[in-house]
Order: sequence, then structure tokens, then C-alpha cells
Amino acid sequence: MSATDPSSLYADHLSELKRRADEALARSGFDHLVVPSGTQHWQVFDDRDYPYAVNPQFKHWLPLTRLPYSWLVHTPGRKPQVIYYQPRDYWHVVPDAPNGWWVEHFDIHVIRKPEDALALLPKPAARCAIVGEAQSALGDYAPNNPEAAINYLEYRRSYKTPYEIALMRQAQRTAVRGHRAAEAAFREGRSEFDIHMAYCAAAGQDANDLPYGNIIALNEHGAVLHYTDLGRAAPSPLRSFLIDAGASACGYAADITRTYAKDAGGEFQALIDAVDAAQQKMCAAVRAGVDYKQLHIDAHLQLMAILKDFGVIRVSPQTALESGVSFAFFPHGLGHPIGLQVHDVAGFAESDRGGKIPRPEGHPYLRMTRVLEPGMVVTIEPGIYFIDMLLEELKEKGVADQVDWSRVDAFRPYGGIRIEDDVLCTDGAPENLTRPAFAAA
Ligand code: GLY
Ligand code: MN
Ligand code: MN
Repeated sequence: MSATDPSSLYADHLSELKRRADEALARSGFDHLVVPSGTQHWQVFDDRDYPYAVNPQFKHWLPLTRLPYSWLVHTPGRKPQVIYYQPRDYWHVVPDAPNGWWVEHFDIHVIRKPEDALALLPKPAARCAIVGEAQSALGDYAPNNPEAAINYLEYRRSYKTPYEIALMRQAQRTAVRGHRAAEAAFREGRSEFDIHMAYCAAAGQDANDLPYGNIIALNEHGAVLHYTDLGRAAPSPLRSFLIDAGASACGYAADITRTYAKDAGGEFQALIDAVDAAQQKMCAAVRAGVDYKQLHIDAHLQLMAILKDFGVIRVSPQTALESGVSFAFFPHGLGHPIGLQVHDVAGFAESDRGGKIPRPEGHPYLRMTRVLEPGMVVTIEPGIYFIDMLLEELKEKGVADQVDWSRVDAFRPYGGIRIEDDVLCTDGAPENLTRPAFAAA
């Protein structure tokens, strides 16, 4: 077992979660923290279930992502309990008996029916902070999601434990296996659907495992920020490939984007190289005490400097930022917190008692407004896109003369560029979790 093996780091992780849970209970005035894993969801007027998604508060404690109708119970000073639903069912695969590095740390009660949990949950129900979705209600145990507890727990989730970082590194390695296979499939001229399949096969994960739907975009499709159509035929000619695809490790997410040009000597490749160099500078700026809002604004200016160099805009980066030209080419946020959820919680949190730090005006899609602190993991994902809808709006706003439209026409067939890494803020230099995984693959 190495120091980066999650199993060797789990006991400390659990101690930290117990401390946080104790404080959340003290603040909300309850005696027990009760966390349902969640239930299956059914399609309307049908007997088909949606893919099960575990309650993030549950997988924070346990490396278990496929255990519906189960419960975690924490009472200060006591060994935590897991009420573990293992039905008798010959239609479906049922969860294995409890096993793995987590088992020794819990009192475990295996139940065969969801309602068997009622006898095991702490009494009275009114003394429980029950954190989950409404649908998890069982008898008197309906999630009450006390605000003071949620605010505290979500805020603290920003500070990843070494166990969590180890799992996030693992997710990076898995995703990078997929990225390598996807690039190879692109170079072979395969379709978006085929590239997606190559990705899933190499990563060993499918739609139910991945932390979000793969974005696999050839040519102009790169200009659709969340393109998930997966065309069945490769376009001709093939020019470019944008892939935004992640992986999961025990419920922790990786979120990685790369962009490739078919022609290694062309101008689009040069634009990719420029964005890649700028992105690495942005990653290097992920330091404690830095306001993420400022990183986002700085990213706008750096990207506009690139577009100026490439002759796409005719004005200074500052002017492009003020006129809205910059927004048309980079219309999303620089990034977001990541962890148990790909867009993790508390990106706007003012404190562990609530409050929201607003986005800067004119930047409606930024998902992180906090000052960076050690232990936070954020994505850094600058992009440049050629999106007709947004470029048309520049004409309507009367700032069309700030753009060289012949240069837009030259780049439009390539769609866009995004480069995305996941970066850990530390006491000192930031740690890019993504680049070492590519270097090692
Ligand atoms: N993959 C979604 C995002 O980058 O935020
Ligand atoms: Mn992202
Ligand atoms: Mn992404």
C-alpha cells in the first residue's frame, strides 16, 4: 500500500467527515446525520428506470455508487452505521456483500427490503438531519435538508482530503486512456459515434459510469458547447476534433477537454497551440489567495490577445472585453469546482453559513466566484469558438467592425477549441492533476 493508495488514506478521510458532521449537527440542532443513498427513478407511465445516481453526500462517506435504498448514519461519538440494501432478486444483479477497505470502519446492517431500514434508523426521526432527495423518504424519515447543515457540509466539500485527491488522480488516469484511444480513432477518420465507443472501451466506462455525457465533436460541431449527438458517419473533409470527456473513480470525477487538428501544419493547429500555451499559464495561476473571478477576466484578455495575433479581431483585448466581442468568442466560464460532482457544490459560497458571491456582470455562466484556497480542485477550461448565433449578435450590437469576418470564415469550419485540465490548489505551486496523466500514458 502506497501513500497515494486511497485505502491507506481512508481512515483519515473518515475522521475528517465525522468532524464535519459533528459541526453540521451542532449548527443545525440535530442529534444524528442520516444520509439516504437514493432510490431508483421511473420513467412516467412506464416500467423503465432511469440510470441510478447516488446521493453525493452518501458517496462522500463510502466508495459505493450502486447501492440504492441504503443509508449512512452518523451519531457523534459512535461508530457510523451503514444500512446496506442487498435484496433477494433474481431479475437483476444485486450488490455484493459488503467488502473492501471501508467495511471495518462501520457497523453494517444488511437489509433485504427497503422498509427494513425503519427498525434500524435512529429514533426519534425528528432528531435526525436527513440529507437527500425527497423521493428517499421512508416513513417518518423524510429528508429535511437543514440549511445550516447543508451550507456547512457543502462548503467544507471544497477542501478535498488526500483520499479524495488520490481518487481524483485515479479518475484522470482512466479518462486519459480514453482520450488517447479517442485521438487515435479520430486520426483513423472514424465517426463521432465510433470515437465515443473507442473512448468507453479504453476507459472501461460507459454512460452509467461516466461523470457526464461525452462531448465528441468533429469539425463545426466543436462550436456547440455541449454537443452530444454522436454522428454515425465521419464528415468529409475531416478537419478538427474537440473531445470533452471524463471518468469516475469511486464517484469522483475527472473533466478533461482536448482539441486536435487533422492538419498538423495548418493555422488551426497553430491556434490550438496558442490556446494550449495560454491555458497552461492560467493553470499556473491557481494559487491560494487568488480570486477565481479575476482568473476568468484574465483568461478573456489572454484569449483576445491570441485572436488579435491571429487577425480575427481588430481591437485591443480590453476593448473586446468591454464591447462583448470577447464574450461571443468565449461564452462560458473559465471553469468550476470539481469533485464528487463534475460541477461540484459551493462554487459561489460566501461562507460556511451561507451567502452567495455574485458573478461579475456580463459573465452569466461562470460557476466559481470564490477566492482559491489549498485543497480546492477547479477546472481551467478556456475556449475560442466560432458560433454563428453569437457572432450575428455582434452585428446587431453595432460592433461588427471589431471583427475581421474573413478570418472568422476561415476558422468557422473548425468549430472551436477548448483545453481543460483539473487543477489542485495547494499552499504553494498548483498541481495539475491532468497533465501528468497524459505524460504517463
Ligand atoms: N464537461 C462539462 C464541463 O466542462 O463543464
Ligand atoms: Mn468542466
Ligand atoms: Mn469538460
